[in-house]
Amino acid sequence: MKKWMKLVAVMIVAVMSLTALTACGGGNVTLADIQKKGKITVATSPDFPPFENLENNEIVGIEVDVMNQIAAELGVEIEFIQMDFDSILPAVQAGKVNMGMSGFTVTEERLENADFTMPYFMASQAIVVLADSDIKTKADLEGKTISVQTGTTAEEYCMSEGYDVQSFVANNDAVAALTSGKVDAWVVDNEVAVALSAEQNGKTVVLDEAMTQEPYAFCFRKGSDDLTAAFDEIIDAMIRDGRMQAIFDSYGVPYVAPEM
Ligand code: ARG
Repeated sequence: MKKWMKLVAVMIVAVMSLTALTACGGGNVTLADIQKKGKITVATSPDFPPFENLENNEIVGIEVDVMNQIAAELGVEIEFIQMDFDSILPAVQAGKVNMGMSGFTVTEERLENADFTMPYFMASQAIVVLADSDIKTKADLEGKTISVQTGTTAEEYCMSEGYDVQSFVANNDAVAALTSGKVDAWVVDNEVAVALSAEQNGKTVVLDEAMTQEPYAFCFRKGSDDLTAAFDEIIDAMIRDGRMQAIFDSYGVPYVAPEM
């Protein structure tokens, strides 16, 4: 081989390995990769109490406690990366983060583009209205305007029901749309409805009508079989030995176990 050809060959190999190393969206990350690094990157949208919210600039909540136990068992540290809820799945799919933790409902559609762990909780959608509203049941929503968070199952559900929907990237703006009278109702996951409504000084009420059945789980990039399996094993144990229930108890949230 001529000298210059050798040089070109070496350069090609160098460039190729560099791209492989730096590529976002390269191969799938395995459990071994994460354990070797000693760290898992977790995208989250902390506008969703009691599952994740900010307290003195720190991300806290039920899912944080669950993740802490899982990470401890896997022997890795957690690096939380904050983003808007509707940016999380694309970031997970592109391999920019290792996983998503954000009160994710497992849906058929999402399963086409991402892997989910086993569910750890059963939620539903709830309606929140102003305390003096004439909306008392779901039937009263007919012809009313409703705020939801962008990219959520609430948005999908309300659109499929044919309501006049206003979507907000930040959950807090969806609440504000209700409290400032811009919309007639706000639809959101039941426990989040209770938690955020409690912060409105009696201005809002949560209607007692569960509209959907939504299993919550953590999500990974498609093809992350061994990571999902490792999580499943720990989540399953936590549900069976009561650790999951204990976490919910510590937040005063009634634990609804998923069907197992
Ligand atoms: N459970 C709903 C969904 O999967 C809402 C999740 C919103 N999460 C958040 N952290 N804002 O679409």
